[in-house]
Amino acid sequence: MKLVDVYCFCVNEKKSKGGIMELIICKNYEEVSQKASEILIEQLIRKPNSILGLATGSTPVGLYNKLIEAYKRGQVSFKNVITFNLDEYLELDRRHPESYFSFMHKNLFNHIDINEDNIHLPSNNIKTLEGDIKTYNDLLKLHQVDVQVLGIGSNGHIGFNEPGSPFENETFATKLTEQTRNDNLRFFNHIDEVPRSAVTMGIGTIMRSKKIVLIATGLNKADAIFKMLKGPITTALPASALRNHPNLAVIVDELAAKNL
Ligand code: F6R
Repeated sequence: MKLVDVYCFCVNEKKSKGGIMELIICKNYEEVSQKASEILIEQLIRKPNSILGLATGSTPVGLYNKLIEAYKRGQVSFKNVITFNLDEYLELDRRHPESYFSFMHKNLFNHIDINEDNIHLPSNNIKTLEGDIKTYNDLLKLHQVDVQVLGIGSNGHIGFNEPGSPFENETFATKLTEQTRNDNLRFFNHIDEVPRSAVTMGIGTIMRSKKIVLIATGLNKADAIFKMLKGPITTALPASALRNHPNLAVIVDELAAKNL
């Protein structure tokens, strides 16, 4: 048996509106990545033409590595998979190394057999933005996401739904908070290089996914995870909206679970 099976433990919480929330507390980042990959691999085996909602940032990199390994050992294929990413920076060209388009190709798409036509990220073309956002929303209405992967910001954001974002929003252009810009400074040389705005799926869009898997690791996520799971459901803590989702798995390491 793998260590992760021994260590991770799961608390199922019944929710008032029906549905189950699974809280899975793992020892470390490796086990969080393993557990999340098991959910996605099982999904891809059961439904090879799954529609996946994907996140960027540091947290899902381990998960994506495990999906690449599963592909390389022939356990899963992405040939018929369709993906929709949560967000993309405005102000960066898609070819910029820190664009989310580049991130996804570097960390996942370049290593699997996905059809490039099945990959969708929000457009960041300022000239066509309004129409492109509408097209993205229309596509997402036609393609219900089977499993949406989410990280969480230290301020409780999901996608780039910063505190105060209405729960019913669809994909929209938004300003990034200074906290988020500072959190993401590690990917850039100087704060002035960190984009000030982005396009993101809204919480309304995210909530339409059949299943949501939120992953979080490290002490700097402990406050957001506590407020998300134990605080009031409020736009001040965007991730708290997920408590109204009927099929939510929250996979965290011990550090992110510290305040629970
Ligand atoms: C990225 C995204 C963000 C990140 C969040 C956590 O697509 O949607 O909400 O998930 O900012 O980022 P990391 O994982 O870098 O801590």
